[in-house]
Amino acid sequence: MKDCIERILISEEEIDSITSSLAEKITEDYKNSERELVLLCVLKGSIVFMADLMKKIQIPLEVETMKVSSYGAETVSSGIIKIQLDLCRDDLSNVDILIIEDIIDSGNTLSKLTKHLLKKGAASVKTCTLLDKPSRREVDFKPDYCGTVIPDEFVVGYGLDYNEKFRNLPFIGILKPEVYGKSAEND
Ligand code: IMP
Ligand code: MG
Repeated sequence: MKDCIERILISEEEIDSITSSLAEKITEDYKNSERELVLLCVLKGSIVFMADLMKKIQIPLEVETMKVSSYGAETVSSGIIKIQLDLCRDDLSNVDILIIEDIIDSGNTLSKLTKHLLKKGAASVKTCTLLDKPSRREVDFKPDYCGTVIPDEFVVGYGLDYNEKFRNLPFIGILKPEVYGKSAEND
């Protein structure tokens, strides 16, 4: 698996320090809220980030999951968002939702998800992403919390996949270009 990686972009140690600093900010910002804090994990790419981040947040919280897909060619998102698994909570009037996302690319997923959750009646909706590729934005969207900005490269590891693989790498890496070619032949 590691031989498919051209280079490591963000090491385990760097990820650890990024999640610590995000958790500290989140703790500080929400500690005086009288509402319930719900961390909403966008499946599946955010599960590793979510698991690490939530352990470092020092205030009471609950967790929920949603599954959203954006259709498109292999490494390009399409802009068409489909909710495959919705948030199963009726009353969100006392809930601060913090969406936990692995990466923002076009911005379509998070901008649509934010609108969807506000429409469902959430008291507040904010977003926290581990990675951001602002150079690829198609819609005007800025996350409330961002781990780090990365260049326009397709990355895998720490939850992020290429064709469902590489999620279990402990670091964020850039795939070798020939891996795309190989996969296109096989799939
Ligand atoms: P957006 O809607 O274009 O912002 O796309 C966000 C989603 O695209 C993320 O949740 C990822 O699932 C996927 N994605 C975008 N860039 C990458 C990448 O470099 N590696 C893996 N998945 C990515
Ligand atoms: Mg993905």
